[in-house]
Amino acid sequence: SESYSVAVIPGDGTGPEVIREGKKVLQAAGSLYGFALNFVDYDLGGDRFLKTGEVLPDSVVEELRQADVIYLGAIGHPDVQPGILEKGILLRLRFELDQYVNLRPVKLYPGVDTPLKNKGPEDIDFIVHRENTEGFYVGSGGFFKKGTPDEMAIQESINTRKGIERLLRYSFEVARQRPRKKLTLCGKTNVLTYAWDLWNRTFQELAKEYPDVSTDYAHVDAICMWMVKNPEWFDVIATDNMFGDIITDLGAMIQGGMGIAAGGNINPEGVSMFEPIGGSAPKYTGKNIINPLACILAGGLLLETLGKKEAADSVEKAVVKVLSKDLKSLDAGRMGYSTSEVGDRVAEYLSA
Ligand code: IPM
Ligand code: MN
Repeated sequence: SESYSVAVIPGDGTGPEVIREGKKVLQAAGSLYGFALNFVDYDLGGDRFLKTGEVLPDSVVEELRQADVIYLGAIGHPDVQPGILEKGILLRLRFELDQYVNLRPVKLYPGVDTPLKNKGPEDIDFIVHRENTEGFYVGSGGFFKKGTPDEMAIQESINTRKGIERLLRYSFEVARQRPRKKLTLCGKTNVLTYAWDLWNRTFQELAKEYPDVSTDYAHVDAICMWMVKNPEWFDVIATDNMFGDIITDLGAMIQGGMGIAAGGNINPEGVSMFEPIGGSAPKYTGKNIINPLACILAGGLLLETLGKKEAADSVEKAVVKVLSKDLKSLDAGRMGYSTSEVGDRVAEYLSA
């Protein structure tokens, strides 16, 4: 029968706890739908770095390139200076594996509380496509006259025609498949006039190739406002790396919090990587109280990428069932169930 290799990076903090539940559910989905997932764990993250000084050996990157897909828990450790692991593992993989779409669904499931008044699941259901290999994240810039009163720091945003075009083309293709067929470009054409002129020109040109997709544009600050006031306006939002980082934390909050926010780093021609977007949550580590649903939903996105649409849909359905029947809250420690019990429930509903 079919089998797929899944490279697993449990990572730091609560990463290993949520990944354990994600694997449980994926395994159950595989046996139900007749395919095998061969998980290979990679020990990366703060503990390895503190023990050995290694962040991400080149040989590991080469092995990850050979996987069908990557499943990641969380990266970030309280005893390691911020940036070393995040840039050295997470961002390096996104860049080296050329995962140019950071796909982040913002979907309010039935039974989940949103802080938005008078908004329900029918109002909050969109996807953000965050460009994932360029922008400020390239790390271009430098210090000038460092340490002097005249010091200056420059941080440049890199935007290439090719990088913008591939992200937008992917977004038009996805928008075309959705019932509402709408794509919103999120930028800052009124201030960042070089970068966003190029984005906007590329957007306008591509729009002609996709007459069936309706398009609009909003500045990133206004997008933050509309995401709170009128989230029902959005279907697919395309944006750059930095703006996408920011608006997807806002998105996670309106869909019920980090406990449920999943994402994928997609290379449509290569190896993609799926992760809960919430981080390593050191405060909750090792207590078996963190919510694994974001990681489980990321597993659902992973299945979709492997072409297992039916299995992916049933994972989502099982999550919806747990949300409506079982959980008291999405917050760590308040769910009414432990991390592993939530995973058990999802796996159980999957096979029911
Ligand atoms: C995210 C995170 C990362 C990012 C950090 C940890 C580098 O915030 O995945 O959104 O900024 O992309
Ligand atoms: Mn972020």
